Amino acid sequence: MTAAMLQLDRPAGHPAPLIDPFARAITYLRVSVTDRCDFRCVYCMSEHMSFLPKADLLTLEELDRLCSAFVAKGVRKLRMTGGEPLVRRGIMTLFASLSRHLGTGALDELTVTTNGSQLAKYATELKNCGVERVNVSLDTLDPDKFRAITRWGELPQVLRGIDAAQAAGLKVKINAVALKGVNDEELSDLVAWAHGRGMELTVIEVMPLGDIGEERLAQYLPLSLVRAKLAERYTLEDIDYKTGGPARYVRVAETGGRLGFITPMTHNFCESCNRVRITCTGTLYMCLGQEDAADLRAPLRASQSDEPLYAAIDEAIARKPKGHDFVIDRRHKRPALSRHMSVTGG
Ligand SMILES: C[S@@+](CC[C@H](N)C(=O)[O-])C[C@H]1O[C@@H](n2cnc3c(N)ncnc32)[C@H](O)[C@@H]1O
Ligand code: SF4
Repeated sequence: MTAAMLQLDRPAGHPAPLIDPFARAITYLRVSVTDRCDFRCVYCMSEHMSFLPKADLLTLEELDRLCSAFVAKGVRKLRMTGGEPLVRRGIMTLFASLSRHLGTGALDELTVTTNGSQLAKYATELKNCGVERVNVSLDTLDPDKFRAITRWGELPQVLRGIDAAQAAGLKVKINAVALKGVNDEELSDLVAWAHGRGMELTVIEVMPLGDIGEERLAQYLPLSLVRAKLAERYTLEDIDYKTGGPARYVRVAETGGRLGFITPMTHNFCESCNRVRITCTGTLYMCLGQEDAADLRAPLRASQSDEPLYAAIDEAIARKPKGHDFVIDRRHKRPALSRHMSVTGG
């Protein structure tokens, strides 16, 4: 069914659902609520980042209105990310207000990707807002390496956050970026630790986003090598588990746990892409790996009515590209995209 047909069929008062030119329904919105962070991970930010002036940011009320417009247009899953979403002042009021869409059944899931530093403080509140699952980014269990990777982070604080999240009844998934010469020897222990605590683990390949003042090639570790190394210790059974996202999953026979691989460099996961991203200034990115974007802040602020906003969203989704083209090789040492991951939230 085309977007035009859906438009004609829709009941009065319901904005048309989001179907892109390749017939993919857009049901997943990732929202970067701040570009700021209390860490400076080496693959994500340079040590001396300049951040957006606070006046450029959407207010929490505006973020609510923007998210709610997407929910009205058929988005079923919202993920708050950043920067570090849990360092934005007052962020729990956004979770609390968005939870009304869970109550009405319009939304299936409200969730968050976090570095875990503030989880000890917020885990219970998140659970009370209807959040069921959180993704925590953690690349190593070695406190010194943790400090080296995050520059400003402290491992015990994150581990306390994970404890608090599990104690509050949140399901925790760990995301680890594979870094050559840094955590490659440790990933199999990370599998045992995560699965031993009933947490899923996903390993992510470094993506060429943003100028981070480090040699990208030096960090890049293809997951084919990670998988081969893990297979020396574990029996990895391919499973047909799909989330609509870029991860491919295996079951680790020895632990019974699930292990995901996100391989943007070595596999193309765009075909089934159901997601778009908005930044904290209201810019909509239709693809993580492309520059094309649409400004939603202007239509949001221009009118009390949501109609101009719906029209701007429709116009942008009609431009969603088929896929991206990341390249890290010896001829392409520069970032494929100039923006940092902390802008779009990964
Ligand atoms: C940008 S962070 C934002 C949310 C939160 N601060 C966190 O770290 O989970 C989201 C995810 O992107 C990952 N990430 C950041 N830069 C990356 C890069 N260049 N390549 C691959 N993953 C990256 C992080 O490891 C994290 O799992
Ligand atoms: S990966 Fe997350 S925690 Fe690390 S610097 Fe980027 S936004 Fe902050």
